[in-house]
Amino acid sequence: MSDILGDMRRTHHCWELGADDVGKEVVLMGWVQRRRDHGGVIFVDLRDKEGITQVVFDPKVEAEVHKKAHIIRNEFVLSVFGKVEKRLEGMTNPKLKTGEIEVFVTELRILNTAETPPFMIEENADVSENIRLKYRHIDLRRPCLQKNMILRHKTGVAVRQYLNNLGFLDIETPFLTRSTPEGARDYLVPSRVNPGQFYALPQSPQIFKQLFMISGLDRYYQIVRCFRDEDLRADRQPEFTQIDIEMSFVGEEDVMKVAEGMMKSVFKEILDKDLELPFPRLTYDEAIARYGLDKPDTRFGLELKDISDIVKGSGFKVFADVVKKGGIVKALNAKGCISLSRKEIDDLTEFVSIYRAKGLAWIKVKEDAWQSPITKFFSEEEKEALRRRIEMEPGDLVFFVADQPKITNEAIGHLRNHLGKKLGLINEDEFKFAWVTHFPMFEYDETEKRYEALHHPFTAPLEEDYEQLGDDPASVKSRAYDLVLNGYEIGGGSIRIHQKELQEKIFETLNMDRPDYEEKFGFLLSALDSGAPPHGGIAFGFDRLVMLLCGQPSIRDVIAFPKTQKAACLLTNAPSETTKAQLDELSLKIRKVGA
Ligand code: AMO
Ligand code: AMP
Repeated sequence: MSDILGDMRRTHHCWELGADDVGKEVVLMGWVQRRRDHGGVIFVDLRDKEGITQVVFDPKVEAEVHKKAHIIRNEFVLSVFGKVEKRLEGMTNPKLKTGEIEVFVTELRILNTAETPPFMIEENADVSENIRLKYRHIDLRRPCLQKNMILRHKTGVAVRQYLNNLGFLDIETPFLTRSTPEGARDYLVPSRVNPGQFYALPQSPQIFKQLFMISGLDRYYQIVRCFRDEDLRADRQPEFTQIDIEMSFVGEEDVMKVAEGMMKSVFKEILDKDLELPFPRLTYDEAIARYGLDKPDTRFGLELKDISDIVKGSGFKVFADVVKKGGIVKALNAKGCISLSRKEIDDLTEFVSIYRAKGLAWIKVKEDAWQSPITKFFSEEEKEALRRRIEMEPGDLVFFVADQPKITNEAIGHLRNHLGKKLGLINEDEFKFAWVTHFPMFEYDETEKRYEALHHPFTAPLEEDYEQLGDDPASVKSRAYDLVLNGYEIGGGSIRIHQKELQEKIFETLNMDRPDYEEKFGFLLSALDSGAPPHGGIAFGFDRLVMLLCGQPSIRDVIAFPKTQKAACLLTNAPSETTKAQLDELSLKIRKVGA
């Protein structure tokens, strides 16, 4: 059989050849990165997955081939046969792995031509992300994205190896299923054979992995796609991947140990970094108090101070009133930042307003006095107490936010992260892990006027808090833990409820009545009643982990075909309208809202 490749078969990749290969006859295949015509001799940078080799078309070596090389353009696909030669003195390229050699071509096959690409295939191509996503197959040719895909693959291999060695079983769970509540909206899939009925795509395999434990499978993992219809951000996609883990007969320590070991093994394998175990731990309350957020970036200080007690009786009505209404006032001391301009402070005020803060008060600490719009409202005693609590010294700039606890903490917590970056306090090469434990079980939803599970409703409460479940759900802590890395939540899990009665009690606290939870979760309740062992687990955000390992700012850079902020795939133009025939088959009718 003959095909376009003929009898040519690739002998080497484009990153492989070096000085040791001089004199060899080789076949390379790849894409044209660049073609240069140097007075008769044509040079082509031939590119494949991990590198570039300079190939030369010299009329003195092979006149016919040189002639044919004139039609070569960027991104043409070539197969070349030739001899490896040492580059002339002064012509070597130390930036290239293959920079000492070049290949003199004696046979050329143009395997395919190509349209001029919409952007250059290079590290820092100056092109909008939307164009990159529209032509993702071309974008993925860029060395940076190729590196990310390779690293993602290697991370998956390292994870599997680690978990396989510990006796975990990789078992698949269904995608066409019922709602699995993780706090987002479901993606629904209509059922053709059951008109009017829908499957939900899983927000996580949570319930299935618990069922595996009840089935006696003991240790499960899966690198699995999850689907959540929620507002997208740099670290959130509608479909993303988890490293999902569940274990039987365990407590918090056992799960955390497996998770820490996995991180150690992955970081050693991928970055050759030795992580120190165990990772530091802090409770949810401590994280909120010191950092304002439950995913603190612990690579820098700038810790927050609660000053509500000091200002509650002060003449500054904004602060006093907030405390009177159950709010809090917190301060952040930007050490040595007195020289920030009014414009910069105004920008920061704008920044905290994103988090619904109503203002950003500030004090500049000068040698002899405080410069601030608010100092005039404080007594000498209050000033002295503030100075001590906030450790104010000349040269400092202190910021204050006063509001309901949730708003104050979020606003000043994000301000802290923002300043950490702006002031250059973060060592970008550092990896700082922290466990956050003892989360509240429930969060009160003001609009819905009911409690919601802070993690998911299958998380066990702390045993010593069982009694408060009835009258004071807000005070109940859970057996959940999150793993935070450099301010990103990269994993979260918990010890689960394994008794039916307790699970029912939690559903009731969440304002579900018996018919409701039996309809939705009857199968789980029945399973819990069939001999469920104590169990627990964790799930890592695989994309976020790979993003941090790659040093990338967005998970879109480590996902082959990501979606835009509007949950669209610009390459395939999904989502899209469908035909009437397909809708009829699904017994669906589209009604335009407002029409
Ligand atoms: P959780 O909802 O915390 O827990 O999810 C686990 C981890 O998945 C990542 N993650 C996401 N990554 C990208 N895009 C998203 N939209 C997204 N949502 C979550 C985060 C998060 O820490 N079933 C439980 C786990 C368990 O209890 O074992 C769960 O899904 O890194
Ligand atoms: P005002 O009394 O509104 O002029 O505010 C005086 C200063 O307090 C300004 O710098 C405001 O930004 C700031 N401020 C107002 N409301 C708050 C608040 N809720 N928290 C923190 N600072 C505030």
